[in-house]
Amino acid sequence: MPDDIQKARELVGNAGRILVFTGAGVSTGSGIPDFRGPDGAWTHREPVLYQDFVNSTRAKVEYWRYKADTFPAFLAAAPNAAHRAIAALEKTGRLLKVVTQNIDNLHRAAGTGPDRLVELHGSGLYAECLECLNWVSMETAIKSFNTDGAPPQCACGGWLKPAVVMFGEPMEKESLMKAFKAAESCDLAIAVGSSLSVEPAASVPLAAKAIGKPYIIVNQGPTAHDKAADIKLDGDACELLPLLLG
Ligand code: APR
Repeated sequence: MPDDIQKARELVGNAGRILVFTGAGVSTGSGIPDFRGPDGAWTHREPVLYQDFVNSTRAKVEYWRYKADTFPAFLAAAPNAAHRAIAALEKTGRLLKVVTQNIDNLHRAAGTGPDRLVELHGSGLYAECLECLNWVSMETAIKSFNTDGAPPQCACGGWLKPAVVMFGEPMEKESLMKAFKAAESCDLAIAVGSSLSVEPAASVPLAAKAIGKPYIIVNQGPTAHDKAADIKLDGDACELLPLLLG
């Protein structure tokens, strides 16, 4: 086994309260594309801003088109070896929290407990009404969009919006607080499959490092925190996480 993996395994072995922070790269092995990897979504699309979504029909259609295009991969996805390795860590009693930027529900599907999971960017399973705040299933909303190409509406007449945090939209304070609390009280932070470039989410594992906790990064390619990490493992999360956490 390579030296850096061995050293990272020692850090994991010595830790009792592990924070795992995940991004899109943990789910590419399940067929869900990432955003900033070599073929990532933002290499060929522009993200729609929240303010534009709220104010413009054209932006609503553009965003729902993106969601409708990516929904089949989302529905077909099943947890992979990386999600399962994290769920297995929980069974040993040493997982403090999984803080994820992903909206794909795959940590939950792999068995990560709801009390252990913080979904910073919301859930892709639902759409929420901008007027009455009611939630409906994303499947229903996408079906409506695919039928007439119009932005879906709630029974109350309000516009539906995917229940995920868009660029320019404030994040839910409670989730952020849980995430930063976990960063304070963990004894090891591991970031997996994220470019660590989107704030405030990326500051969560960095907050642990800032108060002296060891920090391991598992990612294919560079991240914004490579210099801060104690150990950087460059490669596929599906291969590396079972080795690291098993
Ligand atoms: N194993 C390890 N790393 C991988 C794998 C893999 N199998 N596949 C891709 N990666 C890496 C990519 O090379 C990239 O560096 O994962 C990283 C994913 O980074 P991003 O695409 O930037 O995704 P993420 O960090 O989750 O993005 C944060 O930005 O677009 C918004 O709200 C969206 O939650 C998202 C946020």
